[in-house]
Amino acid sequence: TFVVTENCIRCKYTDCVDVCPADCFHEGPNFLVINPETCIDCSLCVQECPAEAIYEEADLPDDQRHFIELNAELAQVWPVISEVGSPLPEAEQWIDQGEKLQYLER
Ligand code: SF4
Ligand code: F3S
Repeated sequence: TFVVTENCIRCKYTDCVDVCPADCFHEGPNFLVINPETCIDCSLCVQECPAEAIYEEADLPDDQRHFIELNAELAQVWPVISEVGSPLPEAEQWIDQGEKLQYLER
């Protein structure tokens, strides 16, 4: 399955939503997650993300592995997003900043 990682937080470009054939993405205030129960492993979303935040589970960097649980958990409570929206207003400033999990809003 595919997993959204830290670099999406405070950016949320939403380009990923446009290509997903299975409506896997669920939206929170400043982060998107992939529902592991609906992802069909097509990999189309990976190259769409300007923040390069999406990984196949097996390819996750060690310091991002906790996002597997977080995607599964939040996909249960956040609604599906099916249309691309605007990135968050400060996306450009926050891309690649690291240490962004502390800013996750639920
Ligand atoms: Fe959707 Fe495919 Fe990405 Fe899974 S891998 S979230 S099915 S675009
Ligand atoms: Fe997030 Fe990248 Fe999608 S920043 S909203 S995973 S395009």
